[in-house]
Amino acid sequence: MSRRSNSLSPSPRAPKRVKLDHLTSEHFKNGVFLAPMVRSGALPTRLFALKHGATLVWGPEIVDKAVLHSERCVDPVTGVVSYNGKSKAIFTTHPIEKPYYIFQMGSADPELAVQAARAVMQDVSGIDLNCGCPKPFSTHSGMGAALLTNPDLLCSILTALRAAMPPEITVSAKIRLLPSQEDTLKLVERIVNTGISALTVHCRTRTMRDRDPALVERLRDIVDFVAGMGKGIAVIENGDCTGAEDANRIRALTGAHSVMIARAAEANPSCFAPAPLADLEETLCPAYLRVARYLDNNWGLTKFCVSQFKAKHINVDKAAQKRYRQVLHGTKGFDGLEDITGSWTGAEDFREIVEAIEARPPRVHGPTEHPAESPRATPPLLVTPTDTSNPEPPGSGAPLMLALRCVDIPALSGCGPLTPTPGGGISV
Ligand SMILES: Cc1cc2nc3c(=O)[nH]c(=O)nc-3n(C[C@H](O)[C@H](O)[C@H](O)COP(=O)(O)O)c2cc1C
Repeated sequence: MSRRSNSLSPSPRAPKRVKLDHLTSEHFKNGVFLAPMVRSGALPTRLFALKHGATLVWGPEIVDKAVLHSERCVDPVTGVVSYNGKSKAIFTTHPIEKPYYIFQMGSADPELAVQAARAVMQDVSGIDLNCGCPKPFSTHSGMGAALLTNPDLLCSILTALRAAMPPEITVSAKIRLLPSQEDTLKLVERIVNTGISALTVHCRTRTMRDRDPALVERLRDIVDFVAGMGKGIAVIENGDCTGAEDANRIRALTGAHSVMIARAAEANPSCFAPAPLADLEETLCPAYLRVARYLDNNWGLTKFCVSQFKAKHINVDKAAQKRYRQVLHGTKGFDGLEDITGSWTGAEDFREIVEAIEARPPRVHGPTEHPAESPRATPPLLVTPTDTSNPEPPGSGAPLMLALRCVDIPALSGCGPLTPTPGGGISV
């Protein structure tokens, strides 16, 4: 496993951070979001998206059972939280993204879904159920798009999640269109009645491929229908959006509250900005690789993400482009990338990300959710055993402080020294 082990505990004197209000349906409105993407929606991609203007970010789909077979570890230097499977991390996150991070789950079982949601809820702001993945690995076990034709199961998972999660954790769903609009509306009505905060509609049917144009013209009906139900639920359009400006066009066309972007963000995670990073070799890749290196992101995953980037080559001639590709594909890890990354270590890039995220306007509390549909659950499960040395109290941003300390932000100086502690991994 490439992730650093935890040999240090954080300072008990970490400075206070401003606590953001938790998400409500209102926070899923007027936004442009990063879509869930297996592999491509890795932690550095999500942080890049947030830095460049994504309002919220969905993580890649993680199957409930995978979470339940993982061990939660915190890197005390960078603050990265890893849920480690047998041979690799099944997903990683960082406290800086928590207020904006929606965890997407694959499930076909309400009980397992609740257990998995409880296991991750200290690190996320919302749980989203994947009801749209058409791939056999998902559908053969009743997950993803298979739920579209099993609305009883789909709704029982959402109902169970809503009942089990505390109010500060939102529950949402991402669906595809059904072939008939009438059936889609019937399904939407049942889903909305489970008490979710937001519904994403990928405007393609289960059998449509990504190259088929999204049927965005079918969405307005759905938006109006959900509005007519009077629950204030956000409807999010997904399909064929190319960036921040295009999101305005799609919202005007469909009436959707927000828009979610997948492939355009996979090609350039800064596409949320009015002026995205335009030069592949000079800006986008070096910064991404540095952040990935700083966060100790899996190298194979990092290389995959970078290989999906598509941008212009503005100041770089053909020979330099070839050299760049040779360096990237010839190396087996982050060592040897200096020709691409330059002298910055990645700590500087990470500090820029943190500053950009923390410069966002404070989140104001939206209207109260419908209490009847969002019953207050039993107190959140404390997942760390009491006799375990825990370098991060659940829900606190302690490791982030250490990360910031490493990059020397004056306003946050004053942390105490790091002190070694045996072990340090946290089990869930
Ligand atoms: C590489 C990749 C991985 C994806 N993984 C997921 C996933 O984990 N969960 C999900 O609901 N959709 C997943 N999708 C679908 C996207 O979230 C999105 O619905 C689809 O690509 C349409 O949006 P777009 O037209 O903006 O690409 C994935 C798409 C891509 C390209």
